Amino acid sequence: MAFKKEHTVATYPMKHYLENNPWRIVENGFHREYNEVTESLMSLGNGRMGQRGNFEEKFTGKTLQGNYVAGVYYPDKTRVGWWKNGYPEYFAKVLNAANWIGIDIDIEYESLDLNHCEVRDFHRELNMEEGYLERSFVAVLKSGKELRVDAKRFCSIVDDEAGAIRYAITPLNFDAKITITPYLDGAIRNRDANYDETFWDEVRKETAYGEAYIEMRTRKTGFHVATGMCVSIEQDGQRVDYQSQPIKYEKYVANRISLDCHQGQETAIFKYAVNLSSLNYDPDTIIQDAHKYIQRITRKGFDKMLFEQKQAWADKWKTNDIVIDGDIDAQQGIRFNIFQLNQTYTGEDERLNIGPKGFTGEKYGGSTYWDTEAYCLPFYLATADQKVAKNLLVYRYKQLGKAIENGQKLGFTNGAALYPMVTMNGEECHNEWEITFEEIHRNGAIAYAIYDYVRYTGDEQYLAEYGLEVLLAISRFWCQRINWSKDKQQYVMLGVTGPNEYENNVNNNWYTNYIAAWTLRYTLEAIGKIKALDADRYVELVDRLQIRPEELTLAEQITEKIYLPYDEDKAVFLQQEGFLDKDLMPVTDIPDGQRPINQNWSWDRILRSCFIKQADVLQGLYFFEDEFDTDTLRRNFDFYEPMTVHESSLSPCVHSIQASKLGMKEKAYEMYLRTARLDLDDYNNDTEDGCHITSMAGTWLAVVKGFGGMRIENNQLVLNPYCPEQWRALSFKIRFRGAMVQVTATQQDVTVANASAMPITLLVHGQSVTVAGNSQQTVAAVAVA
Ligand code: BGC
Repeated sequence: MAFKKEHTVATYPMKHYLENNPWRIVENGFHREYNEVTESLMSLGNGRMGQRGNFEEKFTGKTLQGNYVAGVYYPDKTRVGWWKNGYPEYFAKVLNAANWIGIDIDIEYESLDLNHCEVRDFHRELNMEEGYLERSFVAVLKSGKELRVDAKRFCSIVDDEAGAIRYAITPLNFDAKITITPYLDGAIRNRDANYDETFWDEVRKETAYGEAYIEMRTRKTGFHVATGMCVSIEQDGQRVDYQSQPIKYEKYVANRISLDCHQGQETAIFKYAVNLSSLNYDPDTIIQDAHKYIQRITRKGFDKMLFEQKQAWADKWKTNDIVIDGDIDAQQGIRFNIFQLNQTYTGEDERLNIGPKGFTGEKYGGSTYWDTEAYCLPFYLATADQKVAKNLLVYRYKQLGKAIENGQKLGFTNGAALYPMVTMNGEECHNEWEITFEEIHRNGAIAYAIYDYVRYTGDEQYLAEYGLEVLLAISRFWCQRINWSKDKQQYVMLGVTGPNEYENNVNNNWYTNYIAAWTLRYTLEAIGKIKALDADRYVELVDRLQIRPEELTLAEQITEKIYLPYDEDKAVFLQQEGFLDKDLMPVTDIPDGQRPINQNWSWDRILRSCFIKQADVLQGLYFFEDEFDTDTLRRNFDFYEPMTVHESSLSPCVHSIQASKLGMKEKAYEMYLRTARLDLDDYNNDTEDGCHITSMAGTWLAVVKGFGGMRIENNQLVLNPYCPEQWRALSFKIRFRGAMVQVTATQQDVTVANASAMPITLLVHGQSVTVAGNSQQTVAAVAVA
C-alpha cells in the first residue's frame, strides 16, 4: 500500500493511513482508531440527505452514527453559564435521523461485529468519480468461521431522497443458517445534545413483506420524517423468495430473514431506502408517499440506479473537475473538496443552505454561517447553473423578516436587519455574546454576496427584485450601529468582533468598518441603478420601504467620514484600534508543542496575544482588492500573515489567493496544501467531528482565483493563470454567462478552451483574447508579478 508523502507545512501530527489516488479515497486495512475520521471522509450526500461512512452491520467500536435530512433541525435549549438579554433561546441542531443503512448479520449464535472479530483484507473506498462507497473484508469470527463481505452504497443524486445498498456475504469455510436483519432505527440521539435529550418521537411504523416504514416527528419543531426500506435478496445471482419475520420495538422496525448459506456462495442483500421529510410531503400521507417512492426505486433496481448515479456524477464532473498533473496528493485533495461541495448543496431548494460540516457530522449545528456568502457562493457561481447561486441569495432574502426581528430584539429600529451568525430558519441561534452581538461583519458578507453575484452574472435585475431590500435593511443597521465620535470627528463602530475571533469587543475593527461603509456605498449605487433601470419599480420600492432622503444623506456622510485605523509609519491598516500596543511577534516564536493555541492556551492569553485566527484585515483586502494597490496589499500581507495561526479552516485560502497575486508562489502553495488536504490529512485533528465543508470552497478559490487568477472585471472574465512549480499542469473549468471555458496552465503556456458554441472574449495576462465557439487558444505563460 502506498502512503502519502510528508508535507512540511503541518504544525500538528497528520494522519497517514489513507492511500493517495486521483479519484478515490482508499483505506486499506481497518484503522479502528481513526474510524470516526474515516466515517466523516467517506460521507455520502445528495443535497437532501447525507450519511456518514458508518458500517451497515452492527459495530460496537468507535463510531459516530450519522444520517442527516436537509432542513430538518431541532431547537436544542441553549446552555450558557450566565444569561444575557438578547440571547437566543435555542441552538438549532442538524438532526441525526433514523438509521436507514442498518443490516445486522448473525451466524448461528455469533453476531458480525468488526469490533469483536479478526478483520482481514479490509478495504473501504469512496469513489468520487461515480459517487458511491464500497467496502470489503473478511471477518474471522471467534468460532473460526470466515465470512467475506462486499458492500456498496450510494445516496442517489438522481432520486435525491433515496439511497441504495448492495450488501453481499459469502461464507468462506462453512455452511450455516445466517440471520439477516435489515432495519430502520429511529432511536437515534445527537451526540451534541445539550441536555442529553432525544429529539424524535415516533409517530407510526409499518411492516410488510420485505418492507418497513417508520415515521418520526421532531420534538418542538414538529418535522415529520418517514424512512422506508425494501429488501430483496439474491443467491448466486438468482432472486430468492425468503421468509421474513417482522420485528417492531419502540422507534425500531425490522425484517428478520433466515437463509441457508453455503460455503463459497454469495448472498446479496439489496436494501432500498428513502427519507422523506414534511418540508416536501404532507405529514398525513408521508408514509404512503414513502411507500410509493420505495416501489418506484425498487422497480428501477440497484444496477439501474447506480448506472444513473454514475452518469449524473459524470455530468457534474464535466463542469466541475480540476485536473492537477504531477501531484496525486493535490489532485485527490481538490477532487475531494469539489465532491463534498456537490454532495452538500445542489441549489434545487432555496430553503436549504450549506452547513460548515454539511452532512458529515453534527458540529456547528449544520446551520448557515457567513461562510456561505464569503466562501461558497463563488464556487457555485462558477461551476453550476446561475439559479444555484441565486437560490443561496434568495435564502437570505426570505429570511429578511427574521433578520429585522433580530435587529429589533437588540434595540434597532426602522427595519434595520441583523442577520444571524448561525441560523437554520432565519432566527439567531448562537449564544456567545461576543459572537452573537458583536461578530456583525456577517451582515456585510451578505451584502457583498449580492454584489459578487451581480458582478459575476450581470443579473442587475436581481437588485430590483430582491437585492435592494436586503441591502437597505443591512445599511439601516450599520447606520444605527455606527456612531459619531466628537473626539475623532469621524464615524466609529465600537464593541465588535472581526473575522479574527481571537479578539473580542474591540473598537473600530478595520474590516468591519470598511465593509459597513462599503455596504452603504453599494446600497446608494444600487438605488441609483434601479432608478435608471426600472423607474416604476424604483418608485414602488421607495414607497414601500419608506426610503427617506435624510437616511440616504446620513449613509453618504458615513461613507465619507468612517474611521479606518491606519498606521502611518508601517503604512498598514490596523486590525483594530490599539493593535500596535500588543507584543507583536511572528507565529514562529510560539514554542513547539503549543499549537494550535486554542487547544493549548487559556482564552485570556489568546485574547491578549497578537496572534490572528484567520484573515481579518486581509479578508477586507481580498473582498475589496480593486480599491487598493498591490503595494498596499503586500505591506499588509507582510505585516499580518506572519502573525496568523490559521486556526480557522477558512483562513489559508485567502492567504493563498493573495500570495498568488503577490507572486509569492511558495507561500501560495504552502497555504493551498493546508486547505486542500485539511480533512484528508486531518490537519486540525478534528475531522472525526465531520469535514470542513465550507472551507472546501476556499480550496477551490485558492486554485481558481489564486493559481488561476480568475476575476470578473467590467463584465469580462479575466485570467492570470500560472502552474505551481510542483505540478506539470493545472486545468480548471468555469461557467461564465452562458460560456463554459477550460483553462489549462503549464509551466510554458496557458490554453483557454471554449466548450460552448458562442465566442468569448477574455483577458489573459492582460491580453485580450477571443476564443471562438468550440475552439481553443494558447498564450505564453507569464512570470507572476
Ligand atoms: C470561524 C468562523 C466560521 C465558523 C464556521 C469559526 O471557527 O472563525 O469564521 O464562520 O468557524 O465555519
